[in-house]
Order: sequence, then C-alpha cells, then structure tokens
Amino acid sequence: MSIQKETKKSDFRYDTGEARVPWAAVGESMNVDDIAAIIRFLIPGDANDPSYGGKMQKVITALEELHKSGNYVSKLSLGSYVKKLEEAIQEFLNVKYACFITNATAGFEIGLKFAGIKPGDEVIAPAITFLSTINYPLLIGAKVVLADVDPVTLNISPEDIRRKITPRTKAIIPVHIGGYPCDMDAIMEIAREHDLMVVEDAAHGFGGYYKGKALGAIGDFGSFSFHEVKNITSCGEGGIVVTNSSYGEDFPKSRFGGFDIAHPIDKWLYDVVALEGKGGRYTVGGNHSSTEIQAVSLLNQLKRLPGIIEERKRHAEYLNSRFSVLEEILPCPLDTEDIKSTYHLYLFQLDHTKLKGDIQDFKKKMDERGIVQIPHFAPLYRFSYLKQLGYDTAAMQKSCPNAEEAFLHKFTHLPLYPLTDGQVEYMADNIIEGVKEMK
Ligand SMILES: Cc1ncc(COP(=O)(O)O)c(C=O)c1O
Repeated sequence: MSIQKETKKSDFRYDTGEARVPWAAVGESMNVDDIAAIIRFLIPGDANDPSYGGKMQKVITALEELHKSGNYVSKLSLGSYVKKLEEAIQEFLNVKYACFITNATAGFEIGLKFAGIKPGDEVIAPAITFLSTINYPLLIGAKVVLADVDPVTLNISPEDIRRKITPRTKAIIPVHIGGYPCDMDAIMEIAREHDLMVVEDAAHGFGGYYKGKALGAIGDFGSFSFHEVKNITSCGEGGIVVTNSSYGEDFPKSRFGGFDIAHPIDKWLYDVVALEGKGGRYTVGGNHSSTEIQAVSLLNQLKRLPGIIEERKRHAEYLNSRFSVLEEILPCPLDTEDIKSTYHLYLFQLDHTKLKGDIQDFKKKMDERGIVQIPHFAPLYRFSYLKQLGYDTAAMQKSCPNAEEAFLHKFTHLPLYPLTDGQVEYMADNIIEGVKEMK
C-alpha cells in the first residue's frame, strides 16, 4: 500500500500512516491553547481590550471547531509540508535536490561534508562575509584562507582566489553578498581547473540569478537562509541546501545523523549509515531537521517573493538615480541582462579620496539623522577568534587590501526592506546632504 512505500522512502520519522494505535501517538501534538498562544504572539495586542479579545475568541472558536472535526495537525516535524516545500523549491530554482534544514549554516556543513573537507585541508572564502561561512572548516581544523574582494561588488575576487590556491586547497565558498551574484563563471572555471568543490553561501541569494541560473544552484552545493532578516522567512529560522549532484540523493540522511529508514537492519526498523562524500565515508553527527510550521510559512512566502524583490529593486534604482548627482557616491551594482540580484541589501560606497571624511564620518552623520545602516560585515580577520585559533591575522589583513579599504573607509549597507517611499526619500535627501557637507 502506498503509505508503506512513502514511509520507506522518506526520513519522516513520525509519519507511520493510518493505524488503530499509531506510533505518532507517543508524542504530544499541539492543542487549541498552544495554537492560540502562537497567534497571540504573532498578533500582539492587549488581551483585555474588548476588540482584541473578541477577535481572539473568534479564532479560538474556529480552532475548536476544526479540532472537533478531527481535521487537525498531528505531525509537526518533517511531514508532508516539508516535502511540498522541497518540491516547490526544486521547481522554483530548477535544481535536482533541495533539503529543508534549520539554517544556512547547517547547509554549509552538509555541503562541506559531502565535499570531503578534512582537518588540514584549505578552504577559500571571502574576507567580507558573516562568520557562519567559515565556521565548519574552523570547527574541524581545516584551514580557512580569506580571499580579497572585488572593490565594486565586495564579492570574492576570482583573481585573488587564484593567487591563494595551494596543493592543499579543497573548496571555495563564494558568498553572494547582499544578494548580488558573484562572478560564478570565473569561480567555476578555477574550481574545475584545480578539482575544487564549490559550496555557495547563498544566504542572501534566494531568487537571484547569474546568466539564467539560480544562485545556489551553480556550484556543487548551495545553501540559503530564511532567518527573519532575510527577504522571506520560515518563522524566524530556516535554511535550504541544494545540489544538482547525485550526493543530493543522500540529503535526507545528511539532515539527521545518517538515519536510513529505507534500509532497515535485520530485526530493527532502520539502519544508520556513514555517507559517501568526495574521497570517502563520513559520519553525519548533527540533527538539522526542520518543522512543518516553518515549511507552511515558507511555502506561503514563496508566492510573495517576486513582488518583494521587485519592490526592493525599485527602491535601489531610486537611490541610484538620486545619488547620480554626486560623483563621490559610487553606484550600487544593479541588474544587467546576465545579473539578477535579490536586493537583500543596498551596497553604499563612498569615494572617500574626493571627500574630507570617509565612511566612518558619514555613518556618524546618518546616526544623527536616524538613518540606520547595517554595520554587519567586517572582514573576518578582524574578529578575535581567528587570532585566538593561531591565524596570522596581520598577514591576512595585508593580503586583502580591498576588503580593508572598503571596511575602514568606503562601505556600509543601507536597508531596502519594506520602507515607505517617504522613508526612502528621507534617506536619499539626507545622504546627499550629508555627503555634500563632507566636500
Ligand atoms: C552571508 C551570510 N552567510 C550565512 C549566514 C547564516 O545564515 P543562517 O542564520 O541561516 O545560518 C548569514 C546570516 O545572516 C549571512 O549573512
């Protein structure tokens, strides 16, 4: 019967199908009160306010009716909605395998494990990114090599990747910073020439394209973030790891400890396997499973994504056109025929050589005017942990002059998230005024 077949194919542990005494009965599900508590959390209001209380009562009554009808959620982890989401994303990105996980960071771990990264191997990542990009190599004692960035996009520089390759290099992690695509043709050419695996940090890149290919689906693996600050979110946390390679067949097992429900061992329900990556077997270890509620929310937000990107793009184009009156403001790279950004962040850069001050002075001016920038992406060699782990951070800094110059003097990120036209106009007016004061 089909239920049995489904169960065997998947890693959906609690989906044991119809039964007089189902296994799922051993766990607690969500009741009306739990769901009401979530709704109260999502729609803040004063419970004593009659209008809020009245609305809430309607929701609770509807939930109780649903409960009585028996048409109620019983599976919360890795059920049919996770599967639907993965299928929808495979189609959306035109990619063979997609696996819904806890966050993008888990996806890098999964990709780098399949890529066979071992202690002592070298992994090249850009100097300017978020710490997650390099956490897995550091954790296992692989060596992180930071490549300089392109001064226009702040994405990893293919030329510097080339310079930093050694016989121990095993992988490259390009990061599509702010959702703007890296130069993937050049990166893939280097990777194929040197037999390196490419794991794309597409945390900001969901819905972006490079020469017609979805970001994240160009390298050997790609991982996206659906944390609440991203363009769309799966209830605050979440990630998708994708691949076109046959390693994707083992994604469900890589999500949870090598748990293999399709091949039970003799007299037992399932086996646990060591997965086959590039160059050998490895044990999975972690549990990166995600929930049905997260999948439902992301499936729904997926429909809104094209409109969200369009709105962000409109704001970015407006800012570029306003800033074009000042040659001291470098234009943020926008779409071309080949490039479709997700406009997760607006990259703002100053030509400080033509001004009396630099980005640090500019930031102070913006703070005074209530314009919040996102001072998030410092070159990673500036954080304590690399030095504490024995890295020669002074040498790293010296080898990344563009990252250093951009961080100290040139760049910040401006928000584009659903701002009103009035807010974007206020931002443009005040930025132009602030830069003029620095002339
Ligand atoms: C460039 C970059 N990579 C990776 C991550 C990590 O994503 P997650 O929080 O989903 O693990 C982030 C998070 O903001 C990021 O900005």
